[in-house]
Amino acid sequence: MTTLTLKVVAADDTVPGIRTLTLADPDGAVLPSFTPGSHLVIECANGANAYSLTGETAAPREYVVSVLECPQGRGGSRWLHRELIVGDTVVAHPPRSAFAPVLRARRHLLIAAGIGITPMVSHLRSARRWGREVLLLYVFREGRGAYVDEIRSLTEAASFFTDRADFLDELAPTLADQPFGTHAYICGPSQFMDDVVATATRLGWPSSRIHVEHFGGELAPGDPFEVELSSSGDAFTVESGISLLETLAANGYAIPNLCRQGVCGECRVPVRSGAVVHRDLFLTDAERRDSMMACVSRGSGRVELDL
Ligand code: FES
Repeated sequence: MTTLTLKVVAADDTVPGIRTLTLADPDGAVLPSFTPGSHLVIECANGANAYSLTGETAAPREYVVSVLECPQGRGGSRWLHRELIVGDTVVAHPPRSAFAPVLRARRHLLIAAGIGITPMVSHLRSARRWGREVLLLYVFREGRGAYVDEIRSLTEAASFFTDRADFLDELAPTLADQPFGTHAYICGPSQFMDDVVATATRLGWPSSRIHVEHFGGELAPGDPFEVELSSSGDAFTVESGISLLETLAANGYAIPNLCRQGVCGECRVPVRSGAVVHRDLFLTDAERRDSMMACVSRGSGRVELDL
């Protein structure tokens, strides 16, 4: 898989607990463009993590990402916070997006909490460039708001909340008051996203107009399912709470892997038949027709793999 070697050219620790890194090609070359809402997968000490790109999208000379320090995580964020210094290099995978703006949308309603603001910044940048209608609700802990000044420079249609009750007071009326054809984009902690989606659904929003971005959050354990390998005919049960990747490894089939979060693309396996519950942020809809990411995605009933 193609990777990029990027040099850390700046590190900003202004917002407590959030480190913003600016990365560039070591020789100053232009970096691959990306669609708004894209993320960059950075290889870290214990695997790989995905971070939303917040800078310019077209022919950028720099990639900007913000990293929330997670003391209880696998160590990737701690490494980026505590050990990486300006001048170091990192290995990254080219940008991918599973959270792009829907171009036919009449209005884009962005709803973010905490570090979930990061994918919204490139959405706002793109909305401003193309004259798209946009509205942002952003809730964060007092003193922990990231990109606040930049957001103010990109749009006047942003509401900031440091009190969750104030945010909730605003949420339902805002969701209820959108013109037909509005798409909602939600990013933040899992419980926050579940609550916003539940409110939108209660107010009649169809799921096709609700888009969520999950990064490194807890995934539900899922139901058990059967997996069969077409080459050998071997069949196994993937138990609830155990990944397909782990089940295959336990039975002697080692699949390359890196992030174990469905973002890097390493553990892709070909699917011959069966219903797959895709939970990754890597595969396109077309790729999902015949493959799945073994670290996070699951089957329903029985899945046959071309292995
Ligand atoms: S290991 Fe990265 S997508 Fe599965």
